[in-house]
Amino acid sequence: MSGDRPTAGVDDRLPAPPRPVGLRTRYCGELRPADIGQQVSLCGWVDHRREHGDKLAFVDLRDHTGLVQCVVEGAHALRSEFVLRVTGTVRERPEGTANDQLATGQVELAGCQVEVLAAADPPPFVLDGYTDADEALRLRYRYLDLRTGRMQRNLRLRARVVSALRRSMEGQGFTELETPLLWTPTPEGAREFAIPSRLNHGSFYVLPQSPQIAKQLLMVGGFDRYFQIARCLRDEDPRADRQYEFTQLDLEASFVTEADVRAFVTEAVSAGVEAGRGERPAEFVEMTWAEALDTYGVDKPDLRFGMRLVECTPLFAATSFNAFKAPAIKAIRVPGGAGFTRSRLDGLVERAKSLGARGLVWMRVEPAEGAGGPGAPLGLDSPVAKFLSDDEKVALVAATEAEPGDLLLLVADEHRRACEVLGQLRVDIGRPPVGEGPLRFCWVVDFPLFDGLDEDGRPQAAHHPFTMPHPDDLDRFDTDPLSVRAQSYDLVCNGWELGSGSIRIHRSDVQAQVLSALGIAPEEAEARFGFLLGAFRFGAPPHGGFAVGVDRLVAILAGEDSIRDVIAFPKTQSGADPMTGAPKPLGPRQLRELGLRDLAGPKPPAR
Ligand code: AMO
Repeated sequence: MSGDRPTAGVDDRLPAPPRPVGLRTRYCGELRPADIGQQVSLCGWVDHRREHGDKLAFVDLRDHTGLVQCVVEGAHALRSEFVLRVTGTVRERPEGTANDQLATGQVELAGCQVEVLAAADPPPFVLDGYTDADEALRLRYRYLDLRTGRMQRNLRLRARVVSALRRSMEGQGFTELETPLLWTPTPEGAREFAIPSRLNHGSFYVLPQSPQIAKQLLMVGGFDRYFQIARCLRDEDPRADRQYEFTQLDLEASFVTEADVRAFVTEAVSAGVEAGRGERPAEFVEMTWAEALDTYGVDKPDLRFGMRLVECTPLFAATSFNAFKAPAIKAIRVPGGAGFTRSRLDGLVERAKSLGARGLVWMRVEPAEGAGGPGAPLGLDSPVAKFLSDDEKVALVAATEAEPGDLLLLVADEHRRACEVLGQLRVDIGRPPVGEGPLRFCWVVDFPLFDGLDEDGRPQAAHHPFTMPHPDDLDRFDTDPLSVRAQSYDLVCNGWELGSGSIRIHRSDVQAQVLSALGIAPEEAEARFGFLLGAFRFGAPPHGGFAVGVDRLVAILAGEDSIRDVIAFPKTQSGADPMTGAPKPLGPRQLRELGLRDLAGPKPPAR
């Protein structure tokens, strides 16, 4: 198929195609020597055409199963992407012309009668899934891009994965239920899309950022185990791993522990991976949020490569080097990094500063012998080597297990900042593309309940305000809120956050405590989501759940770095749809009906 280039590890097999009906008796990609002598009718697109004199042409006819060569005699005017019905007889290809690269390469269709079902303009870009055509052009003609082997494979993979997720959830006793798209604002963190009400001018529905509150109400409603392949909408700037609209495998269950929820998700995701890759993934490792920060400098650790953060604070407890008189000192070892040019090192220093560090210390590790005189007895080549004692250098080399040819990078700062800056540098330097290599799944547990303080010194919810605090930490709410852990957990794969979830608050006293810590007054809470708090007064079961980002899971399985390549009709990075021209201004009549006035005045359609 055009643009077909298999991705390592992706299970590419198509399910056996259904019995052909209608205009065709067989599919293009399935003809084999066993079919020789049979008369067949095929339908599809002209993938390629090669003239052989003016009386003979070889036409590669393509459908979703693959392509086959048809020998067409006589004059004709077939061009690429014409839609044909071809009837002919399967025969062995003449000696020396077989094509081993093609599944149908031993045979061809001869004596062809050709019916043109639709003519086609020349496509505006070569239909190769890996064309370097501009993405905006691909998206403008997405229906053509979808014909490429790459998009066919990705979207069929997506269908298989979604089907496996659904089967797994059903097998685990979950009931699939739908929740409304016309919803109401909820305090989940993302900016929401608003829909004006025609019958209530000045009032708006809001598109759900997730079914979060609805699924909790389903638990109050006694459904016990719910799931949904749910479309979610968030008005956040699109990126490689983010779209305005995306799909979650959303689930919720009653009377369960965190570990139960993780087991449900591990099972479903493993089934999805098996559907995509032909085998179940390796073990899902588990680490606490604090460990992830300490070792990888991030809450979504990419376990495919090393360069872990090394704790160096105690090594410099008595240092006379002022820059190292800091609450924490962390290091990473970049294998082979001693060869980095000075300008690349300067770039890393700038990057560290732009991430909020006061500075970055680099040290090239050189062989001890002849490494450059008395200033560098251990072979540490660095502008700051002269400020460190020999003992400190020995200890640093031992702690980082550094070897000649390596580069050491150190940040001295507040603990979290030192970790986060080095964690980002680790990713900048060492991270392979997300879809490359093995799948390394990781559960990150025990997130903090609050993510820091806002300008008024008030804690910010790390997940959403319905997350249950860790029972052991409830007494630190007022004294040390940032140390309160949540019963929440993320699933991470290859450095991407694949999903997150938590045990929810089902007790109104704890909910009031959390809302008050967040600075949400009782009246405000009542006005914004009183319907949820009200429901809890009628007997809410303890419950918890999770949501897996389906687009991200499929992108990783497909070996793609952007979720746009696993979505049939995605938006561009600027949120536009070049095919439909959306978003577009509304006409004056529609605005009037909706009770809206366009303050900006008419503007050209977005591209
Ligand atoms: P959260 O907001 O973490 O949790 O979302 C869960 C997962 O959904 C995916 N995701 C996205 N994918 C593509 N584009 C986006 N804009 C986008 N935003 C999120 C990610 C993410 O991990 N209601 C809670 C879940 C729960 O607590 O049960 C929620 O939505 O893979």
